[in-house]
Amino acid sequence: MRLGASVPWGASHGHPCRTITMASQYCQSGALRLTGWCHRGRLRGLPSSPREVLRRTAVGQPIGIGLIGLGRHGRRYAKHVLEDLPGARLAAVCRRSAAEGTPFAAERGVRFYPDYRDLIADPTVQTVVVVTPPICARAIGLEAVRARKPLLIEKPLATNGEEAREIVRAAEAASVPLMTAQTMRFDATVAALRALVGAAGLRRYLSLTMRLEPRPDIWRRAADYGGRGVLLEIGIHVLDLVRYLTGEEVAEVRCDLERPGPDQPDVRAWIHLRTRAGFPCVLDVSRVSSGRVGRVEWVGADAQIVADWSTHTVWKAIGGGQVEQRQVEERPTVLATLQAFLGALERGSPMPITGLDGQRAVELVDACYESAETSKPVKLG
Ligand SMILES: NC(=O)c1ccc[n+]([C@@H]2O[C@H](COP(=O)([O-])OP(=O)(O)OC[C@H]3O[C@@H](n4cnc5c(N)ncnc54)[C@H](OP(=O)(O)O)[C@@H]3O)[C@@H](O)[C@H]2O)c1
Repeated sequence: MRLGASVPWGASHGHPCRTITMASQYCQSGALRLTGWCHRGRLRGLPSSPREVLRRTAVGQPIGIGLIGLGRHGRRYAKHVLEDLPGARLAAVCRRSAAEGTPFAAERGVRFYPDYRDLIADPTVQTVVVVTPPICARAIGLEAVRARKPLLIEKPLATNGEEAREIVRAAEAASVPLMTAQTMRFDATVAALRALVGAAGLRRYLSLTMRLEPRPDIWRRAADYGGRGVLLEIGIHVLDLVRYLTGEEVAEVRCDLERPGPDQPDVRAWIHLRTRAGFPCVLDVSRVSSGRVGRVEWVGADAQIVADWSTHTVWKAIGGGQVEQRQVEERPTVLATLQAFLGALERGSPMPITGLDGQRAVELVDACYESAETSKPVKLG
């Protein structure tokens, strides 16, 4: 399997490739071989662990992944690393419960650590994947940055903008690659819609819906999300899609929240956004009903493009009541996320979804909460 092309490390950082050093690339068999080149000065300037990744890959070894968090979602990551990524290796796993983590690790022949600091310090762990509740992301992220290990953090990057900015600033200051797993960007229906919006004519507005069933287990552990609810947990997906699909920053936010009680996390959010170019967006996010509905609707003057990821369909509605509909083949977004992360690491190219993207999404969540609290629109810089 091939994860990336032979783009030089140095070139992607804007450095001229004068003095050259070998880089590496996945070959057909999934092993690694030397093919590319990069600027020697840049390589010297790389943090030790990206350099370590390069050294390892140069001698044909798969990248060692340390996975922190082995809950519902973390186990999906573990499965993909073990079964679908021949160029990567699950080196170690971590969760707080040793009773559950030890047998999981033993069955798969990987190391287990109940303390994330020990996993990060393990020299066989070259890159860190964080799939814990977001309340842990700041401490784990800063520790990985201190150890100079590239990291992938599940959405939301943090529970609030301040924590997100701290992680992003630290990673930037240390030149440690950081990707936020805004996994919906890899959804096949979203990709299909993105390819079609050019045919919709003058854009009028964007509507995004994400309604899932109630999750009382999450709300019982509200501290995991900094006391925040559905807006941070799943609303962050559609808030990020606004930036991704429009290619614009958001200028203004208005939000209305529903909470079952005054001190309880939000279960429904209705949001109106306006991008810097004045494009209106309407978002409907909730966990109040059974069943699942997830869709993006791009409303243009000539056509409406709808991507529905609950039914894996995309359709285009045009004049005269005509509708062109097609089924889209599902693809696991976690696998695509891991491939994009490892591919960028291996090429030395910028992360496809940056720490700053994750930070912006969390800042939009902050603005929504502020708007709901004050019942006023919030302007963003
Ligand atoms: N992109 C998506 O579509 C998507 C979907 C689902 C979830 N997620 C995100 O993925 C993350 C995890 O969600 P989940 O549903 O898997 O949660 P979960 O089932 O509650 O699992 C959380 C895991 O993190 C571990 N953990 C908690 N604190 C830790 C610490 N201090 N050190 C090490 N491990 C720790 C837990 O271990 P113990 O149980 O042993 O304490 C558990 O294994 C969340 O950020 C969530 O938003 C994203």
